[in-house]
Amino acid sequence: MQLIQAKDYDDMSRKAANIISAQVIMKPNCVLGLATGSTPLGTYSNLINWYKKGDLDFSQVSSVNLDEYRGLPADNDQSYRYFMKTNLFDQVNIDQSRTYVPNGMEPDSDKACRDHDNIINELGGIDLQLLGLGLNGHIGFNEPADEFPKGTHCVDLTQSTIEANSRFFASIDEVPTQAYTMGIQSIMLAKKILIIASGANKAEIIAKAFLGPVTPEVPASILQMHPDVTLVADEAALSAYLKQKSEMEAN
Ligand code: F6R
Repeated sequence: MQLIQAKDYDDMSRKAANIISAQVIMKPNCVLGLATGSTPLGTYSNLINWYKKGDLDFSQVSSVNLDEYRGLPADNDQSYRYFMKTNLFDQVNIDQSRTYVPNGMEPDSDKACRDHDNIINELGGIDLQLLGLGLNGHIGFNEPADEFPKGTHCVDLTQSTIEANSRFFASIDEVPTQAYTMGIQSIMLAKKILIIASGANKAEIIAKAFLGPVTPEVPASILQMHPDVTLVADEAALSAYLKQKSEMEAN
């Protein structure tokens, strides 16, 4: 794992956006794996600014999103399709017919998941997958479990994830309880992985994920096995990781 230390959220966002923009410049028709949540907002806003300045061109890029709530239509302002349109797609020159988010309105969950996996395969796989990190170690919506799920699947969200996401909804009762998410295998097959984290509330889980045992109880810990992972995180998020690492090295 390559670690890039950032000062704060803005610095993390700039550094992460630089890595994504390098990918787009080096391979204009690349496949980007994208994430939602609060962490990537600053990254996306840098990409939008650089596109507006003429430094970036998304016209040949395809994108695949990690996940979508089951049962939310694309025009619901809490759906991940809506999030991506508002926070990135509508503000750059990406061809939206080549942006793929799992179809939350597909009632047949097997079909929704198969369709998403087929799209990833037909695109030839993901060149760069951007990930955020859940407080319980989830990546996408791969929650702590007894085994690592493989392809795209339907998940029951854990109480901790429902509570964390309730800040975006009028009340906790409105948070969907299920989601379609890319599986661990689909994520691990990405050629490069960029994981971003900011803030003290992520400190404990970063240490666990990157220094603890590889276990489906901490889904992000599998990233220790990926050959090309970059973690961009700020000082607050790295505090426990750096402390534990120096203790391990001293022993
Ligand atoms: C979002 C996703 C989630 C988030 C994670 C962190 O598409 O897949 O795994 O990345 O919940 O969320 P934030 O960034 O809001 O802390």
